[in-house]
Amino acid sequence: MCGIVAALAASDVTPFLIDGLRRLEYRGYDSAGLAVLEEGSAHIRRHRAVGRVAELAKQVGQGEAGLGIAHTRWATHGAVTEDNAHPHLSVGQGLEICLVHNGIIENHASLRHELKQAGYVFASQTDTEVVAHLLHQTRLKTTDLLQALMMVQRQLQGAYAIAAISSKDPGTLVATRLGAPLILGLGHQTTDVFLASDASALVSQTQDLVYLEDGDLVALSREASGGVVQRRLLDRSGQTVERPIQQTSLSADDVALGPYGHYMQKEMFEQPGALANTLEMVVGANSLSASLFGQSAASVFAQTEHVLILACGTSFHAGLVARYWLESLAHLPCTVEIASEYRYRQSVPLPKTLVITISQSGETADTLAALEHAKSQGLSQTLAICNVPESSLIRASSLRFLTRAGPEIGVASTKAFTTQLAALFLLSLTLAKGRQRLSAAEEQSHLTALRHLPAALKTVLAAESAFAGWAGRFVQKSHALFLGRGIHYPIALEGALKLKEISYIHAEAYAAGELKHGPLALVDAEMPVVAVAPNDQLLEKLRSNLEEVRARGGELYVIADQGTRFEPAEGLHVIELGDHAGLLSPILHVVPLQLLAYHVALARNHDVDKPRNLAKSVTVE
Ligand code: F6R
Repeated sequence: MCGIVAALAASDVTPFLIDGLRRLEYRGYDSAGLAVLEEGSAHIRRHRAVGRVAELAKQVGQGEAGLGIAHTRWATHGAVTEDNAHPHLSVGQGLEICLVHNGIIENHASLRHELKQAGYVFASQTDTEVVAHLLHQTRLKTTDLLQALMMVQRQLQGAYAIAAISSKDPGTLVATRLGAPLILGLGHQTTDVFLASDASALVSQTQDLVYLEDGDLVALSREASGGVVQRRLLDRSGQTVERPIQQTSLSADDVALGPYGHYMQKEMFEQPGALANTLEMVVGANSLSASLFGQSAASVFAQTEHVLILACGTSFHAGLVARYWLESLAHLPCTVEIASEYRYRQSVPLPKTLVITISQSGETADTLAALEHAKSQGLSQTLAICNVPESSLIRASSLRFLTRAGPEIGVASTKAFTTQLAALFLLSLTLAKGRQRLSAAEEQSHLTALRHLPAALKTVLAAESAFAGWAGRFVQKSHALFLGRGIHYPIALEGALKLKEISYIHAEAYAAGELKHGPLALVDAEMPVVAVAPNDQLLEKLRSNLEEVRARGGELYVIADQGTRFEPAEGLHVIELGDHAGLLSPILHVVPLQLLAYHVALARNHDVDKPRNLAKSVTVE
């Protein structure tokens, strides 16, 4: 999604702005731009380009600009054009206002109408340009850019992060946020302050971050060029506030590609380490404790009689897997809902429900809104499973578990998913233990299995070339079918999602028992059918379903466990993983599907880390 970078510094900010935009490229975007105010100039210099940040960088020379804002845009209102790219400018009566914006202004149409009547001419179709003209109109009536922004903020409905500069305020950068993240980075020199929508754009300069709260407004200003930057922070009621300075553990190296071809490849191979980090505290302590999920978790868990899981995309698939664990281990009824559906559905809240949200980013607008909807229904016990400690989701939830996957840059989620599964398995065990459904011997046996999980995952990754070998057979295909049963049905769903999002091959997943109720009609020699075939109690049922495929001439690709006795033959390709991993099997069986999707996308020459039309963190509805 869109990204913001801005700076007020003693030296030229242009290199930082371009570097910051490059670091935000992973989020997905289709155009980029920046605006700077040169020392002693009365005019804002703006550059915009459709396409990559590299295109923008070619246009932008070095200068003496100590103040600037920059943006990567992911089109929502208006097509992908230079006119619609940010920053947006409003010029007139000796004043130039320039700003960048993430999010959506819901009342943009009525504001646009009023501004047109006041004589403003619009150069774009964006909701953002409305804010630029509104700030221009307001600044003409005030003496202070921050005050003008506060007056504008009160007229805006929707979600936003905004950073703005003005030709009348040469040493001032103002910003505000509501429902979209914005972070200050305090430079090592008191003369330098940075701003971004994502910490990864700041860590090349500083680890000292201030996370703005919803409704906050900030003015960064200095008296003279190169002088000390003063920080004025107001909350949504206009009162001066302090927000804590937090040290991020994220470093510039964490977001570097290293020896890998793509972030997705790097992140798939980081999975054993990511799982070990996520599980460290538990396997080290050799015992499960509710306090892993927060101080009040023990009492909340003791009262829980139902679980409601809310999430989107890959995180939703993690929730679907968790339902099997929660019901079989903890005997807790569990409902899993797509967040964007739940938030608008008239559901009946069950008493004593624990609401679990799952999100890599913790900024997914639909998941955040679903959580708020659950709370408004009186469901106050909330647990977030999330990969970003400072995220909005973590702050909005009373209980939390941080997956420790490290930054995930590739748009296709991989290590976030497997660490979410590990977290959900721990949760299921913990709830089972609290409900006297887990004996001490069972607890130890599960902990031993978890201890072996990173090594088992390494073995699966070592078979990469075998899955890459299958990829060539998918390159020319237009469709693929993924099958699984039981707890591996959500894994089939995840495999289909991975394939479609980066290879653009249409893929569907079915619970294998559903084949004969419709999708079998699609099967012919042109339809590759990928089957997830663990050596579990449903194996023979699955085998019968796969026979139905073979009988119709379908080409089968079976990801099996040792001992499943699938013999490779004409039209039947088999790769065996290790021994069946019991309840942890989904965490291992998803990895071949990630590898397959990656290699098919590579073979089709796609930009694996930045698939078309998609964004990493979906901060709009
Ligand atoms: C797919 C993918 C998306 C995300 C979804 C939710 O590979 O990454 O489906 O899972 O957009 O994002 P988070 O987990 O950040 O809430």
